[in-house]
Amino acid sequence: MAEPIRIPEITLNDGTAFAELGLGTYKLNGEEGIAAIEAGIGSGYRLLDTAVNYGNEREVGEAVRRSGIDRDEIIVTTKVPGRHHGFDEAIASGIESNGVLGLDRIDLLLIHWPNPSVGKYVETYKGLLELRERGIVRSVGVSNFTIRMLEELIAETGTAPAVNQVELHPYFPQAELRAFHNEHGIRTESWSPLARRSELLEEEGVVALAEKYGVTPTQLVLRWHTLLGATPIPKSASPERQRENADVFGFDLDPDDMDQLSSLERGRLWDADPEHHEEM
Ligand SMILES: NC(=O)c1ccc[n+]([C@@H]2O[C@H](COP(=O)([O-])OP(=O)(O)OC[C@H]3O[C@@H](n4cnc5c(N)ncnc54)[C@H](OP(=O)(O)O)[C@@H]3O)[C@@H](O)[C@H]2O)c1
Repeated sequence: MAEPIRIPEITLNDGTAFAELGLGTYKLNGEEGIAAIEAGIGSGYRLLDTAVNYGNEREVGEAVRRSGIDRDEIIVTTKVPGRHHGFDEAIASGIESNGVLGLDRIDLLLIHWPNPSVGKYVETYKGLLELRERGIVRSVGVSNFTIRMLEELIAETGTAPAVNQVELHPYFPQAELRAFHNEHGIRTESWSPLARRSELLEEEGVVALAEKYGVTPTQLVLRWHTLLGATPIPKSASPERQRENADVFGFDLDPDDMDQLSSLERGRLWDADPEHHEEM
């Protein structure tokens, strides 16, 4: 078997280690899902992204146990769904996820969507902080939060989340939000970093740049994320594509080429503006 790829680490604002690139697991379910996630760990992925709503926390926990890699080397992220918003509800949700994962603790727990019309994301966040106090969760973060919502969390609790996981790809580079994250020490994590394999990877400009660097379009785009200072979590069910996606740390991109990729901006691809889009 090929050597695992070494994915560099950074340090989060709470002092814990985090990876510069991780594995998305949406749709990796059942035995096939376990095998795919285990293959990812074998290729070198140490950051795994799941959620209650993906229905595969059990699979992620099982893949970690089967991998033979020291549990403490792996960073498992899961997410509290909209239907579990509220202080007590979030605590119960985290405790349940921890049981399903079966890995002693959750490394990073996120609020999956803010659901502003419900009006409970601050209470939910306080529930996550309580889980951290109790040692059930190591790091606390959010997903799909806007600058306004982050400001509210910081004002209400004095604690900036360690991570904000948001839609981010060359079609939606999120420059303003990333600048805010940088000011507050919040790590940007990119969901759908490949724009879910839309036409992005076939864009003429993307293909030409990939040729210039002697990499694949996917590798070019993932390197763009890491050089922006974001952690992409590409999902792939295929061990070959997982390896291709992780193998992006051996080249750099010129600033002009970074800008060229960012200039593909056209906005959110799925109309999921967190001020309006809600998920339960
Ligand atoms: N917080 C949130 O609200 C939220 C929302 C969406 C997603 N997420 C997280 O982000 C993760 C990634 O996002 P995503 O799954 O939506 O999209 P993505 O990672 O941008 O794209 C995944 C798609 O690209 C394909 N692919 C992967 N590597 C490839 C390669 N090297 N060449 C060609 N095709 C490739 C995959 O197919 P194969 O599997 O066949 O390779 C899959 O169809 C999710 O799995 C989930 O963990 C979070």
